[in-house]
Amino acid sequence: MTTKTQLYKDLNDQLRALLADEHDLIANAANFASLLYHGLPGLNWAGFYFLKNDGLVLGPFQGKVACTRIAMGKGVCGTAAEFRRTVVVKNVHEFPGHIACDGASNSEIVVPVSKDSQVIGVLDLDSPQFGRFDDDDRAGLELLMRSFVELTEIVP
Ligand code: SME
Repeated sequence: MTTKTQLYKDLNDQLRALLADEHDLIANAANFASLLYHGLPGLNWAGFYFLKNDGLVLGPFQGKVACTRIAMGKGVCGTAAEFRRTVVVKNVHEFPGHIACDGASNSEIVVPVSKDSQVIGVLDLDSPQFGRFDDDDRAGLELLMRSFVELTEIVP
């Protein structure tokens, strides 16, 4: 097991303990964002956008202030939501339509939040390092997302 895989396993244990007695979407999203921001090295932003009336609206996050609304299909977040799959971007400056919220961001990963195959939002992580996120991050964050969806009350 790689060091990164072990880190995600430890974070998953922490997340499950953190969410065991609380099922509220906003409370759990806020603590999940904080756990990632402080638990993963090299991030400058970690947080959620939730789907409301066909667009993504800013949710709980850690980092600098961010854009509040993203249309479906736009930016990395809107792309991940539209295609219902994780998007890993090694260099955001080469991603067509990337939405620059924090000028310090150079790479990004966006994981959909899905319940009963319906997308209700996305988790977005940004880094000032190019190529910060790889397939181990994708697998690790998708593991954490499964725990989040299982332990949180989500009404699609
Ligand atoms: N870069 C994202 C926008 C959200 S911020 O990074 C917090 C995008 O292209 O969708």
